[in-house]
Amino acid sequence: MTNGRISRRSALAGIGGTAVLGGVASTGLLASPATAAPAATPTPSRRPRPARGTALDHKANSLLQKMTLAEKLGQLQLVNLEDLARTSMAGPNPCGGVFSVVGAAKLNALQKIAVEHTRLGIPLIFGLDVIHGYTTNFPIPLAQASSFDPNVARTDAEVAAAEARASGINWTYAPMMDVTHEPRWGRIAEGNGEDPYLTATLAVAKVTGYQGSDYSAPDRLAACAKHYVAYGGAEGGRDYNTVDVSIQELHNHYLPPFKAAVEAGVATVMASFNAISGVPAHANVYTLRDVLKEAYGFDGFVVSDWTGIQELIMHGVAGNGADAAAAGLTAGVDMEMVSTNYVEFAQQLLAAGRITMSEINDAVRRILRVKYALGLFDNPYVDEAGEVTSVSASARAHARAAAGRSMVLLKNENSLLPLKKTGSIAVIGPLGEATYDLNGTWSGLGTGSQTTPPVTVVEGIKAAAPTATVTFTKGCEIDDPDTSGFAAAVAAARAADVVVLAVGESAAESGEASARSNIGLPGVQEQLVAAVAQAGTPIVAVLFNGRPLTLQPVVNAATAILEAWAPGVEAGNAVADILFGRVNPGGKLPVSFPRAVGQVPIYYNHLNTGRPADPNNKYTSKYLDLPSGPLFEFGFGLSYTDFAISDLRLSSTRLSRRGGSVTVSATVRNTGDRAGDEVVQLYLHDPVASISQPVRRLRGYRRVSLTPGQRSTVTFRLTPQDVGFYDNNANFVVERGQIEVYVGNSSSAAMKAVFTVV
Ligand code: NOJ
Repeated sequence: MTNGRISRRSALAGIGGTAVLGGVASTGLLASPATAAPAATPTPSRRPRPARGTALDHKANSLLQKMTLAEKLGQLQLVNLEDLARTSMAGPNPCGGVFSVVGAAKLNALQKIAVEHTRLGIPLIFGLDVIHGYTTNFPIPLAQASSFDPNVARTDAEVAAAEARASGINWTYAPMMDVTHEPRWGRIAEGNGEDPYLTATLAVAKVTGYQGSDYSAPDRLAACAKHYVAYGGAEGGRDYNTVDVSIQELHNHYLPPFKAAVEAGVATVMASFNAISGVPAHANVYTLRDVLKEAYGFDGFVVSDWTGIQELIMHGVAGNGADAAAAGLTAGVDMEMVSTNYVEFAQQLLAAGRITMSEINDAVRRILRVKYALGLFDNPYVDEAGEVTSVSASARAHARAAAGRSMVLLKNENSLLPLKKTGSIAVIGPLGEATYDLNGTWSGLGTGSQTTPPVTVVEGIKAAAPTATVTFTKGCEIDDPDTSGFAAAVAAARAADVVVLAVGESAAESGEASARSNIGLPGVQEQLVAAVAQAGTPIVAVLFNGRPLTLQPVVNAATAILEAWAPGVEAGNAVADILFGRVNPGGKLPVSFPRAVGQVPIYYNHLNTGRPADPNNKYTSKYLDLPSGPLFEFGFGLSYTDFAISDLRLSSTRLSRRGGSVTVSATVRNTGDRAGDEVVQLYLHDPVASISQPVRRLRGYRRVSLTPGQRSTVTFRLTPQDVGFYDNNANFVVERGQIEVYVGNSSSAAMKAVFTVV
């Protein structure tokens, strides 16, 4: 098995020296004003990474010297709840970590065995999927990306870290930073959409929120950058599916968030289930050793995904468990989740010379460093009295603000929204009184989370408009062929002044293993929408979904459309905040919404082709039966007020490849009569390069709050790192020539300036 070693030399040339996302910090995005977001911890002054050569590294090394082979292999094993019974915690090779066990007392009991009943007393690390909340559910990550506000992601991570750590968890399997072009892929809900730059900025914010500057703190967690790498490229959007990707696409599109997360000091990385150009990610020497550990200098540890090592056999690159263990260890997967090939076969592999003791030691050392950095040797136990079992008022307030900032207004004809708080409102649709579905995928696993249903749409509306007459008619189920409730729904619509149509997906219809081949509203909901429209009452459609949907039937029927995603515990209140104007929507789409599933993949940062779509020329790149372009483009979102963006200026028309910068500025003015937020977006295009460049790529954004008439000047600092790209040898290159700059409020921004890289 070659494990992709072939491209090692070329791939290393030039990666280490050039930080492709250095611009994330230097453009100051993470310091953008947190207008309505809660106070956030400042960016850490030092990286919380367990670096080599530190005191922590010395401690890990001296412990390593005392360990037997069996004890070392034990550290490489991660055990889940169901497997615990079969694991001898106090045996010769107790496991290194346990995951998916919830409850401070249970975790302390396990820890006691490791600390007090094993020879060396090495504490366990306790992992859990804390994805968008532990007890308090925040909006799903795709929604958070719509906020275009890193403070939303950071606040989610801070609240979750505090709740989880106080309850005994010290390691989260988040953030997921898989960029994707695939709305069919259910896991799009867990990521930040289609753009590497937006995803990188949010990944850094989330890592910072979880880890702070020192993740031994009692309110922080070790984070996990996942899934490494290119998992979002799954063919056909089918989960776990194959990915075949060029080196330039890997480095320009999929890797930037991981690079940024490593630079932000992420403690751990999880390998992905997919194969990358024929080499499974769990056996990929190139991506794991050459890029992640060598070029990026990652010194935390890599964990497999669930049975990811064992699955090397099904992938067809290992004949048996021993082969699988050899491939995983050689590639640099340090800890094995669920399957047990490392502990079973490592000794035999060592004896046969198929793996080396230094590979084992490196893996163990990495794990020990993270355990030391977590402070587990000093404080292995959690104070059971401090366990978080309910949603606090302040966590609720953060979740509500985050949900409000994450919703996107897609249509608002005749300024139907905001609604008056009087008259009669008919809430119709299967999500109108839904509860846990509004948490979306990965509803928090903390005790309180399972007993605190999200606020429903009906509850939120009734609380916000106590004098209005509010009725509820379900009409149909989320995904069921029964249309017998349509007549009542139509009657309710006829009797009301306005309809709030709550439609979308169930929580289980996105997330892992939840690919859909049809991305319209599930079941008979599209028919329900059409039937209710026949009543002639104005409709506000409120959408709850974990992926972009094909929305033409909703656009045809509804006067206003609010994309609410899966908003979390404060769902109904956050929706009502927007419906009645307490919050003016300011979110933008982090992903393109196709007109039809046949357009997929459709994304804003595509290449031009030699024959870009031209409606007047048949022999161009388009479909016969659809207009070109998405129904709603990346970066799009409306407000209850209007904004004008003007005065695009550059500090210089030249940028030296050897350094320096160009500052781009533009003025944004609230020209309407309500306070609101605009997201000023900066895109670049390199029209002539050694390899074709995307027609646009986001390299800056800033969410700004303005009162009526108020204006603000937004600046972005561009450096060579912003205009360069990786070539097909994985070299980061900055080429001479013109760069087009576009600034506006979506990826269709028209205002343009040009500078020259010299
Ligand atoms: C499989 C998922 O792919 C991964 O994201 C998750 O962290 C693990 N299961 C553990 O639950």
